[in-house]
Amino acid sequence: MTSDAMVRLKLSCLFLCVIGFSIVTLLCLYLPDKQIAYNIGRLSAFNASILPSSHSVQLFHTKKNEEVVIAAVICGNRTSQALVMIKSAIVFRGNSDLRIVVIAEKNIQQEFDETLRYWRLLTNDSFSYEIHSIIFPKEHSDEWRKLFQPCASERLFLPTVLNHLDSILYVDTDTLFLSSVEDVWKHFSQMNSSQLAAMVPEHEDMNVGWYNRFANHPYYGKLGLNSGVMLMNLTRMREFDWISRLAPVLEKYRLYLTWGDQDIINVIFHDHPDKVYVYPCRYNYRSDHCMYMSNCKSAEEDGVAVLHGSRSTFQTNKQPAFRALFNAMSQYQLGSDPVKYLLEASASLLNETTSTNCGRLAPIFTHNMRLMFQTV
Ligand SMILES: *[C@@H]1O[C@H](CO)[C@@H](O)[C@H](O)[C@H]1NC(C)=O
Ligand SMILES: *[C@@H]1O[C@H](CO)[C@@H](O)[C@H](O)[C@H]1NC(C)=O
Ligand SMILES: *[C@@H]1O[C@H](CO)[C@@H](O)[C@H](O)[C@H]1NC(C)=O
Ligand SMILES: *[C@@H]1O[C@H](CO)[C@@H](O)[C@H](O)[C@H]1NC(C)=O
Ligand SMILES: *[C@@H]1O[C@H](CO)[C@@H](O)[C@H](O)[C@H]1NC(C)=O
Ligand SMILES: *[C@@H]1O[C@H](CO)[C@@H](O)[C@H](O)[C@H]1NC(C)=O
Repeated sequence: MTSDAMVRLKLSCLFLCVIGFSIVTLLCLYLPDKQIAYNIGRLSAFNASILPSSHSVQLFHTKKNEEVVIAAVICGNRTSQALVMIKSAIVFRGNSDLRIVVIAEKNIQQEFDETLRYWRLLTNDSFSYEIHSIIFPKEHSDEWRKLFQPCASERLFLPTVLNHLDSILYVDTDTLFLSSVEDVWKHFSQMNSSQLAAMVPEHEDMNVGWYNRFANHPYYGKLGLNSGVMLMNLTRMREFDWISRLAPVLEKYRLYLTWGDQDIINVIFHDHPDKVYVYPCRYNYRSDHCMYMSNCKSAEEDGVAVLHGSRSTFQTNKQPAFRALFNAMSQYQLGSDPVKYLLEASASLLNETTSTNCGRLAPIFTHNMRLMFQTV
């Protein structure tokens, strides 16, 4: 061997060493410094066999499109449920530039930070996130905090808490995306310049509606609004001076607010119906839409976009189809093949619920997954 070749060989060795060292260093930097306590799914370690297969490639496009901002308020024992919702948003992020905004009590913020940091790693930094603390105004602070579910009314104050954001898609922690997040977000472009929020009707049917039968306060339209999946144009809410309208409603109706903050929203939109845009029930699909009979036409036609497990249907056995979908998403590991481990898993869990009214409608729950993962 000539000395020239020797030098080249040495240089190659050195080069390989440097590359190898860099990779190890990078891996060490990226790996979370602590064992993350996952209380959802069975995320273990990296496993080449669960990396994206060809089916899921389209989910991992990094083409930057419009930013979609999804916000949730989390208190008490809702952490694991909220993480399943966030996971579904990541799975169904489509081509959007997804930002997750968590507003949570201090003692659970670290768990969100660690889990979301790990999920960014698993999905090639396909979304960003930010974490904020819960803040209530000084006036009526305790009353706001305890209205309805713990800290649910924080969502009323998001125009100031998230002062740096133009618009968000607010979702309750007991929701799941079953279609692309852009499918919901696109309704911002349908709203006219006076509309500052989008919501679905509380019911589709006067005979079983709650507000028209029981409410002792004004509410929007014939059946009221459900606020579980709500597009909020925070800029317009600030222009409308939303926050200063809240306390007077609380003071006037405090004895009648069965559903807390949702009732306050209904009172405000009763007085200002031009400010709200009503979108179809498939964007906030609840067991009321299927438990007696199917009454959500948009879901029958285009599939459920967002599932809402209100009245604990994700945790209890009241509606096995809702629980089945929650369990499928809970068990799904980000980065693994969504056709096999999410779509097929959902279909087979739903198949065990076909004796119930909601379970009989199984195809409307998986319709958009099939389209998105291109199995039809
Ligand atoms: C990887 O996943 C496959 C299928 O889920 C499993 O059979 C295998 O044991 C896993 N390997 C490791 C190292 O965890
Ligand atoms: C949270 O705790 C309450 C009261 O203990 C319980 O009824 C509820 O089911 C729990 N929620 C979740 C999501 O675990
Ligand atoms: C990860 O993202 C970068 C750009 O953000 C892109 O160049 C790269 O191809 C992506 N990797 C995978 C495996 O998708
Ligand atoms: C929200 O409203 C502001 C002010 O009208 C507007 O400039 C902005 O484009 C709206 N945001 C979205 C997402 O439509
Ligand atoms: C927006 O739509 C609502 C409901 O159709 C209507 O009442 C309102 O006048 C519209 N606003 C504008 C600026 O067109
Ligand atoms: C659903 O269950 C029936 C019988 O229990 C079975 O024959 C069928 O193959 C199942 N379908 C799917 C998609 O799992």
